[in-house]
Amino acid sequence: MQLPSIDDLGDIAGKRVLVRVDFNVPLGERNGALIVTDDFRIRSALPLFHDLQSRGAEVTACTHLGRPQGKPVAKYSVQPVREHLNSLIDGVHVLENLRFSPGEEGNDREFGIQLTDSYDVYVNEAFGVSHREHASIMVPPTLIPSAAGPNLAHEVETLIGLLTNPRRPFVAIVGGAKVADKLGITKVLVEKADAVIVGGGMAFTFWRAMGRTIGDSLVDESRIADVAELIATGRVHVPDDVWALPTGAPFGTGGSETPTHYVGNVPEGFMALDIGPESARKFAEILHSAGTVLWNGPMGVFEDPRLAAGTRAVADALVGSDAISVVGGGDSAAAVEQFGVASQMAFISTGGGASLELLEFGDLPGLRALRGE
Ligand code: 3PG
Ligand code: MG
Repeated sequence: MQLPSIDDLGDIAGKRVLVRVDFNVPLGERNGALIVTDDFRIRSALPLFHDLQSRGAEVTACTHLGRPQGKPVAKYSVQPVREHLNSLIDGVHVLENLRFSPGEEGNDREFGIQLTDSYDVYVNEAFGVSHREHASIMVPPTLIPSAAGPNLAHEVETLIGLLTNPRRPFVAIVGGAKVADKLGITKVLVEKADAVIVGGGMAFTFWRAMGRTIGDSLVDESRIADVAELIATGRVHVPDDVWALPTGAPFGTGGSETPTHYVGNVPEGFMALDIGPESARKFAEILHSAGTVLWNGPMGVFEDPRLAAGTRAVADALVGSDAISVVGGGDSAAAVEQFGVASQMAFISTGGGASLELLEFGDLPGLRALRGE
C-alpha cells in the first residue's frame, strides 16, 4: 500500500512536527504515583523521534490514554507517559490526553483544526488507533503535509503481505475471549490459511457447535451457527482437553484452587480457562511444520500461573519452529513478552484491534486519510 513517507515531506529542518502516537500503555501504581508498566509502544516510537530530530525538526507527540469519555480525568493524564518518555529521549513535547476533549472521538473538524494549528507537518505513527475515525487521525492530513511513520508503514506492509503472499503452510492461531469481535477475522483466516487453531475463551463456542458440553465456560450463543460453518471447512483445530476451575473460584490476579483437567467435555459448575497438555501437543505439531504463523489471542488466562501453560506451549512451539511468526494484539504481545520470547518473533504488532481490522478489510480509516482519500 502506497503511503506518504517522512522523505516525501522534503526538508523539515526548523519545522514543527505533530506526531500522533499510540501511547495508550498500561499504568500501575508505585509509592502512590502512577507509572508506565509496559513501555513497548513508547520505545517503538523512539526511532521516529530520533530521525525527526536529526532532520532538525521540533517534535511534539500527541496520544490518547484510556477511555476518559471526553472530559479530563486525573488518572488518565499523560503525565506518567510524558515522564517515562523524557527518561528515554530529550526534547519531545507530549500534549495532554486527546480524549479529554469530546472532539477527539467525535471526529470533530474544529477540534482537529485547533490541534493542528501550531504545526507545519503531521506524522501518523499510531497504527494501534488507525482503525478509529477520530479527529487526530482523520483531520490533520486534510490540513497540513502528512506522512506515515516508519512503524505504521512497516506494520501495514507486514500484515498485508501476510494475507497476499504468505510462506506456506500458513497457520493462524486465534484466541482470547471475544468471539463476536474475532469471528470476522476468523472467517477471513479460514479462507486464507491452511490451518486455523482456535483456543482461549473462543474455543467453547466451537465446542458447543460440535455438541460438546462446556459447563460454565464462555460462550456466544448467537454465533454457534456461524462457527459450525467454519468447522465444516475441516481447517479449524480446537482444543480437545482443558484446565477448568469451579465456577466463581477466583483467577487472574488471585486464587489458589488447583485447576482440574477435563477431556472432551466440561461438567456443570466448572469453567474452562486454559487448553490442556494434549491440545498443546497437537497445536505444537501443527505449528512445527508451518511456514508462517499469525498469532492473535492467548490460549488461556496466562497472567495466572495456574492457567498459563497452554499459552506458553504455543509461544515455545513458535520459538522452536522455522516459521515466520507474526504476533498481533495486545494480549499475545504481552504473553510473548512475559515468557521472554518476544525477541524471537519475526514481528509483533503494536495494535490489537487495528491489526485485526486491517487483516479483515485490507485498509483502515487512518490509512485512507494519509492517502488523501
Ligand atoms: C488500543 O490500545 O487498542 C488502542 O490504543 C486503541 O484504544 P481504544 O480501543 O480505546 O480505541
Ligand atoms: Mg485495545
